[in-house]
Amino acid sequence: MSSLAFKTVKHAVFDAYGTLFDVHSAASRHQEKLGENAQAVSALWRTKQLEYTWLRSLMQRYINFAKVTQDALDYALDSHGINDETLRQDLLNAYHELACYPEVPETLSKLKKLGLGTAILSNGTLEMLEAGVRNSQLEDLLDAVFSVDTIRIFKPDPQVYQLAVDQLGCNPKEILFFSSNAWDVSGAATFGYQAVWVNRFGQAPERLPGTPVLEIKTLDAVLQYLPAD
Ligand code: LAC
Repeated sequence: MSSLAFKTVKHAVFDAYGTLFDVHSAASRHQEKLGENAQAVSALWRTKQLEYTWLRSLMQRYINFAKVTQDALDYALDSHGINDETLRQDLLNAYHELACYPEVPETLSKLKKLGLGTAILSNGTLEMLEAGVRNSQLEDLLDAVFSVDTIRIFKPDPQVYQLAVDQLGCNPKEILFFSSNAWDVSGAATFGYQAVWVNRFGQAPERLPGTPVLEIKTLDAVLQYLPAD
């Protein structure tokens, strides 16, 4: 692990799905209808969603994350033999109202008090991200939301990490980037961000380039590594 150089940090930038927002909260809300398949559908939905972003970027066949999310859900439901249009629509709607993880509001607030800018950098469309931010009442705690939809390529293409650098007018090392997705941490660290791996699910480290400056279990744990306000 390389070490955190807090003095150079100007902005705290966050991945959205899995880091701020609990992607499995959509299936949890409709657990009764999904029955014993709920967890498996949710896991496959997420796996396929990510695979489709990587594959479409490689194929240079971009469609937005809302459509990718829909295609991935269709695959997951189909795989489990579920054919229920109302449930499908309910799950897609729920993706616009995902719950944020409990420690998110207070952590954002404390990072702002330390004088850092706060932003999201995500594969999500602006519409999806803004709905999520509104739903969790994070509007006042985030200064900016950057979506890959403006450049039509998904993470971990370096152009995505360049987008936040361009928008914030800073250099990569001035960004402290948080993601629960180890492959996103790898992309961000390789690009030059100071990347924090929020290893919520206790996963083994990826065998990919780029080293996080910190590994924590939940976002609030970063505060113990930063100067007290
Ligand atoms: C995002 C996905 C990778 O928010 O979680 O960009």
